[in-house]
Amino acid sequence: MIESTLLGEDEATAQAARHSAASGLPDIAVSPAQGRFLQMVCELIGARRVLEIGTLGGYSTLFLARGVGVGGEVVTLEAKKTYAKVAQENFDASGLGDRITMHIRAALKSLADLDGVFDLTFIDADKPNNVNYVEHALCLSRPGSLIIVDNVVREGNILDPAEGDESAKGTRALYEHVKDHPRLEATALQTVGAKGWDGMMFLRVKS
Ligand code: DHB
Ligand code: MG
Repeated sequence: MIESTLLGEDEATAQAARHSAASGLPDIAVSPAQGRFLQMVCELIGARRVLEIGTLGGYSTLFLARGVGVGGEVVTLEAKKTYAKVAQENFDASGLGDRITMHIRAALKSLADLDGVFDLTFIDADKPNNVNYVEHALCLSRPGSLIIVDNVVREGNILDPAEGDESAKGTRALYEHVKDHPRLEATALQTVGAKGWDGMMFLRVKS
């Protein structure tokens, strides 16, 4: 219902999703409605420079690239060469590739070398590093920047991470880290839909 009535035909992103699936990428990109939401957030805050940590096949990247508009820039970080190859093919096919710069190595290494200020950072990578990624994003933010973190509910299993579930533990650590953080105002919203029961965290940089 949401996709068929509100989102309509979107050939560029649908093609990217098909190419990612055909290339064997895991089916863990954001949903079409979540992608549109990310695009709208960029538009609402007037984001011109966006950082994405975790490219996968570049599905969310395309929505962010739309959101920054003509002359805007998305820097996206991907550690896996196989994912990055598919993502680059998706960027080239989309017509939005000139707004997107991808760095292909461990995100923490890229983050150490990045400079400048980002209006929005979308974190959607390996969850055990969520705290590190937020702190790096904070270093690359200004007061008023927004940091969004994907997968902060994970069907509720962050409440009681199973032994060995390092992803759930990493995200749980994120909640503890941002709680009473002097520079962040935080909230999180749960979502149910095409990608199951999950949620996103929203962090506004206060100072
Ligand atoms: C997983 C990762 C994601 O970023 C996501 O959106 C869903 C699932 C995972 O690693 O299982
Ligand atoms: Mg995700």
